[in-house]
Amino acid sequence: MSIVNAKDMLIKATGEKYAVGAFNITNLIQMEAVVEAAVNKKAPLIIQISVTPSKFLGAIVLADIYKTLAESAPIPICLHLDHCTDVEYCKVCADAGYTNIMIDASKQIFQENIKQTKEVCDYCHSIGNISVEGELGTVSGIEDQVKVAEDEAALCDPGQALTFVEQTGVDIFAPAIGTAHGVYKTKNPKLDFDRLEKISELINGEEIKIPLVIHGGTGLKPDVSKKLVSLGGSKFNVSTDLKHALIDATHNYISSHRDEYNPGKIDIAVKKDIMSRVEYWIDILGCAGKA
Ligand code: 13P
Repeated sequence: MSIVNAKDMLIKATGEKYAVGAFNITNLIQMEAVVEAAVNKKAPLIIQISVTPSKFLGAIVLADIYKTLAESAPIPICLHLDHCTDVEYCKVCADAGYTNIMIDASKQIFQENIKQTKEVCDYCHSIGNISVEGELGTVSGIEDQVKVAEDEAALCDPGQALTFVEQTGVDIFAPAIGTAHGVYKTKNPKLDFDRLEKISELINGEEIKIPLVIHGGTGLKPDVSKKLVSLGGSKFNVSTDLKHALIDATHNYISSHRDEYNPGKIDIAVKKDIMSRVEYWIDILGCAGKA
């Protein structure tokens, strides 16, 4: 069942009111860990990779490993290129075998965002069953979270959202609602739930057409995460949490085994901790047993 794009799995998720975990990886151990955790939980899965690790490891290498892992896994798995601002690199990854591409032209003016997103959509749809994610508004870094959350103009305008999805042909859509990448500085980050609800109603009210994406999962409390899912978020991105798991597990293992030179044991420790974080998120998102 296993090689799928994001759109189909997320339409099902939106309809059944759960979210699929979209987990960022930077190496093979992490990739295996997220797959094994999702298989344990019988959950659909989106593996994400940002542009820098994608270029470092190689798009074709990553896509080939993804295919091998996905073909033997009893769950649907998508490989997603995350936050790519370069239209040409989006095409490179689509050609390589990624099954969902995010063109992030959200820093461009509205018309240019539409133009670039449409170009990636047209390309991906013409070469195969590849879905595309677009973004509107500012998903901030942590330094700017409060500023962005309080700045109406930085968040996704619901009317523009409708125009954006209609004019681009995008398959899944990330509206900025105040979430941010990284560990939130405040215990209760300000999120605009009403805005998400309104966008969800406008785009998917009559029929589920364009699943919605929640960026900045790390640090959101379980009740907040569940609320975002209940309001229409069906792809839920987690990155920083897994980076912490990788670095902390590596540090802890080496600190307590300073005289040992066995990299495989570090990998085992890392994999265990990443799997535990992924399983934690899968339970919160309600996608266990949905594969
Ligand atoms: P975090 O790093 O805050 O989990 O955000 C992940 C994300 O949105 C990736 O696109």
